[in-house]
Amino acid sequence: MISPLPDWREFDMARLLLLLEHKENARLLYEWLSEKYEVIFPGEPQRLGDSFDLGILDGPALDRLAGMVAARKKGEEPLFLPFLLVTSRQNVGFVTRHLWRTIDEIILTPIEKVELLARVEILLRARRHSVEAENRYFALANSSPVGVAIFQDEQIVFANEIFRQLHHEVLGAGKAEKVSKLLLAAYPPGGKTSEMGYRMELETKTGTRWLQCSDREITYRGRPATLRVVMDITQDILYEHELKQLSQRILDAQEQERRHIALELHDQIGQMLTAIKIGLQAVARTAESLPQTTAQQLEASIQTTEKALQQVRSLSLNLRPSMLDDLGLLPTLRWYIDQQARQSSLPIRLQTNLSDSRLSSTIETVCFRVIQEAITNALRHAQATQIMVSLYQEKDWLIVTIADNGTGFDVKAASQQATEGHSMGLVGMRERVVMAGGSFQIESSPQQGTTIHARFPLDIALPTYSMKETKS
Ligand SMILES: Nc1ncnc2c1ncn2[C@@H]1O[C@H](COP(=O)(O)OP(=O)(O)O)[C@@H](O)[C@H]1O
Ligand SMILES: [Mg+2]
Repeated sequence: MISPLPDWREFDMARLLLLLEHKENARLLYEWLSEKYEVIFPGEPQRLGDSFDLGILDGPALDRLAGMVAARKKGEEPLFLPFLLVTSRQNVGFVTRHLWRTIDEIILTPIEKVELLARVEILLRARRHSVEAENRYFALANSSPVGVAIFQDEQIVFANEIFRQLHHEVLGAGKAEKVSKLLLAAYPPGGKTSEMGYRMELETKTGTRWLQCSDREITYRGRPATLRVVMDITQDILYEHELKQLSQRILDAQEQERRHIALELHDQIGQMLTAIKIGLQAVARTAESLPQTTAQQLEASIQTTEKALQQVRSLSLNLRPSMLDDLGLLPTLRWYIDQQARQSSLPIRLQTNLSDSRLSSTIETVCFRVIQEAITNALRHAQATQIMVSLYQEKDWLIVTIADNGTGFDVKAASQQATEGHSMGLVGMRERVVMAGGSFQIESSPQQGTTIHARFPLDIALPTYSMKETKS
């Protein structure tokens, strides 16, 4: 179905095919031309199938062979295969109907040697140019690391090695007809192609293959055609997928670990501290019988224990508020924001159109983590006097912004430093949002404050990283 790839043509010495029925002329031409060229003689009709660079015939031969000559010329396209007619002046009229279709040039009898050589040379030069142009083109196409093919009338009229391989592999492994249709389609399945090209996803027996394609309208052999460049990006897509899964697993593990430590802190250490406090308070109740300094020490210890208890609680909640699992995003955010506002004595406002109904656990976790990190950053780095958190649902999208009126920062420089491993906050935010199928943007410049934008699709099926679902 793919027409064979023309071979590289050597053009060291031109080969001429003589197809003259007039014996005397034939002998004369052979004598003159074989001084300079390789000449195939005598010209049997079947030799028209040979490889040669110029055919020379006379009236009677043309009369007999016109159809074959025309076919031979056509078969040679896009290379130019010239034919020269030797004819008498009286027969010129008969010749005109053949001109250009089968015959490219004529020479009149009696033949002048110089004139013959000049005509032959000019025709061979045209031939050589067409061969060289084609060779350059094939060299380029075949050394290309991507597949290149030309389509015309829903047929592949040219394909380089890589395209052939791809075609062969994909078709060999595919539900041939459907895949072939797609691969051969004159236009991409989704309509016209864009600057960047388009992606084809093909189901084959050995799995899904992804091809990155781009099409361009060209003229080939005088008619409109499509030049398609194709790259097999299956491996890249699979690596990307694996990387995503890996990131997802790291985030899962981190959430689980945090939840675990939060629980331990709250349930074990928190319980022990409570027991110590209760014990100390019981002793304090017998205070009258204690020396005053001991009573004071006791009171100080109770205070310290109370402080430790509060810190353990807040540490545990910050690590992973159990509220997030039990009550959901909005109550947790209200509590978190309230707590941060009190500790920092800064107004932190929350605006939302969400109800208290639950979102997917992934979205809730991602949202909470993003807002938590953004508020922490604003408090730690921005010297802001106001922080505003907003959380809006618009159709199937959840839109989160966290804005502060602080010092702002150079996002490019910070991102650069982050990729060098200096910090994890901004990177982690982006990573979480992208993993959840969303998009993430930071707007900030020195002295202009900072706004973090994140948006998530609410309706797509997401991998979850709640503990319940990923517990191993
Ligand atoms: N809201 C903000 N206002 C000013 N600077 C910020 C803000 N958020 C982040 N930055 C800057 O970006 C850097 C990277 O932030 P981040 O990745 O969260 O790391 P970390 O908070 O651990 O330093 C911070 O060190 C800070 O210089
Ligand atoms: Mg940070």
